[in-house]
Amino acid sequence: MSDTQKTAEPCVMVIFGATGDLTKRKLFPALYNLAKDGHMPDNFAIVGVGRQEMLSDEFRDQMIVNLKEFAGTTGDDEWVKWFCERTFYTGGDFDDDKKLFKDIKDMLRDVCEANKIPENFFYYMAIPPDLFANVTQKIVKNGLGKEENGNWRRFIFEKPFGRDLESAKKLNSDLLKLLKESQIYRIDHYLGKETVQNLLVFRFGNSIFEPIWNRNFIDHVQVTVAEKLGVELRGGYYDSAGALRDMIPNHIFQLVTLTAMEPPVSFDADSVRDEQAKILQAIQPFSPEDALHCAVRGQYAAGRVDGDAVPAYRKEEKVAPDSNTETFASLKLAIDNWRWADVPFYVRTGKRMPTKHSSIVIQFKKAPFVLFRDTPIERLTTNRIEIHIQPDEGITLHFGAKIPGPIVKMGAVDMDFDYLEHFGEQISTGYERLLFDCMIGDATLFQRADMVEASWRIVTPILDVWSAIPARDFPNYEAGTWGPEDSDELLRRDGRKWKNEVPEAATA
Ligand code: BG6
Repeated sequence: MSDTQKTAEPCVMVIFGATGDLTKRKLFPALYNLAKDGHMPDNFAIVGVGRQEMLSDEFRDQMIVNLKEFAGTTGDDEWVKWFCERTFYTGGDFDDDKKLFKDIKDMLRDVCEANKIPENFFYYMAIPPDLFANVTQKIVKNGLGKEENGNWRRFIFEKPFGRDLESAKKLNSDLLKLLKESQIYRIDHYLGKETVQNLLVFRFGNSIFEPIWNRNFIDHVQVTVAEKLGVELRGGYYDSAGALRDMIPNHIFQLVTLTAMEPPVSFDADSVRDEQAKILQAIQPFSPEDALHCAVRGQYAAGRVDGDAVPAYRKEEKVAPDSNTETFASLKLAIDNWRWADVPFYVRTGKRMPTKHSSIVIQFKKAPFVLFRDTPIERLTTNRIEIHIQPDEGITLHFGAKIPGPIVKMGAVDMDFDYLEHFGEQISTGYERLLFDCMIGDATLFQRADMVEASWRIVTPILDVWSAIPARDFPNYEAGTWGPEDSDELLRRDGRKWKNEVPEAATA
C-alpha cells in the first residue's frame, strides 16, 4: 500500500455500464473527490460505454446532474468543468464486437492523442457478472487488453464474483486465459472503508494489542453487518442470491481475515493477501452436519423499523411470493491455526434489522474474579474491544472500573475513539481509495483468485445443504428484530450472547 504517491498515473478509465446506478452514485463522485483533493493527473479521461446510443455531450449533461445529486457539487464548479473536458461516451450492443469495440478503439486512440495520454487503460466492469468474460474477451480480441510498450491495461470486476465455488473457478479460469492475474482487480467495496483499512494500522501499528490478540486472551469474536433496509429495488438479483452469497464470502470474510491474519512481512499487495488467504484456508469447511448445526438462516416477516410498518420479504417487488431465499445468515466459524484454535468467530448479516450497524467485537476472557466475590455477577465486567465499521466509525474499549464509594464495587465503563470527532468529516464514497490504487497499480485492497475461491469453498457446502433442504419455518423473524431465535441459540448453547447495538431511537 502506498502512502507516498499522491497523484494517479496518466490513464483513460473505460466504464462499461456507464449509464448505470453504480457509475452515477459511486464512481463519478469518487473520481470527483479524488480530483478535488489533487490526486488525479491532468492527462486523464473517461470513456463511458453503455447500451444506450447517446452523444458525449448528452452524457456530460447527465454527469453534471449526477454530480450535483451524489457528490453535492453546484454543477458548475471548476472540477465539474475539468471532468466535462475529459469525458466521452460511446454506446452499442455489448455482443457486437465489430461495431462497438471498434468505436471504443477509435475513441481511445483519438482521446489519447488529443490529450497526450499514454495508452494506459483501466476498464471498470459495472455490468452484470455473466457479461464479464464476454466483454473482456472482446476487449482483448480488439487488441485493447495486452500490456505493451510500457503501457498497462487493468480490469476492475464488481462483485458478485461467481455464485458458488464452481462458477467462481470457471470465471477465474476464463479471465486468466485472457489476462494476467496482475491485470485483474476484483473489487470489494468494504476494503475501501477507512475503518476497515484502519484494522491493519490498529493491529500492526500499535504494540499493545498484538501480544493479547490470540487464543490465550480472546474468548471469541463477533462480526455483525446489520442493515435496516430491505431489498429495495433489487429484489430480482437478491432473490436469486440471498444474504449468505451477497455478504459473507466477500464483505464479512474481508473483516474476518483482517482481524485474524498474521502480521504481513510488508504492506505490499502479495504479502497482505498471502496472510489473508492463509486464514481462509484455515477456516474449517462445513460438513453437511455443520451446515445444519453451525449455520442459521432467516427470512423477515412484516414488522416495524424505526416505528414504520414494513412488508414481509415475500411481499417485496420482484420477489417470489413463496420465496425460500434467506435475508439473514449467521455462522460459527472455526479457524484452525495456532493463534485461533478454540476461539469461535461468530458472523451474521441481515436485512431489516433494528439498526444499520457493522462492527467487529473482540471479546476477551474473564479475569479470575476471586477478588470480587461479593460483586453481583451482572456487574462483573469482561473486556471487549468494539471496532465500529459504520456508521459512527470508531473504536470502544470496554472495561471494569471502581464505582466511587467506601466499598469496592465494580461497574462497566467505555473508552471511546470517534473518527468524526477526531479527524473531522471526510467526504468519501469508499471507492476513492480503490480507484486510486488501481490507477497506481496497487492491488493490496483487491481480492486475488485464490482468495475468492477459498471463500466460496467455505460457504458452498452450506449453500448446497440449504438448497437441498428448503427452510420450513420461513419467514422466521419479524422485520426490525435481530434475526431468528436460532441465531441467538447458536451463541447461547456456547454460553455466549450477541452484542446487539441499541437503535438510536431506543436510546433517546
Ligand atoms: C452490497 C450488497 O455488496 O453491499 C448489498 O450487495 C448491501 O445487499 C451492501 O446492502 C452493503 O454495503 P454498505 O457499504 O452499505 O454496508
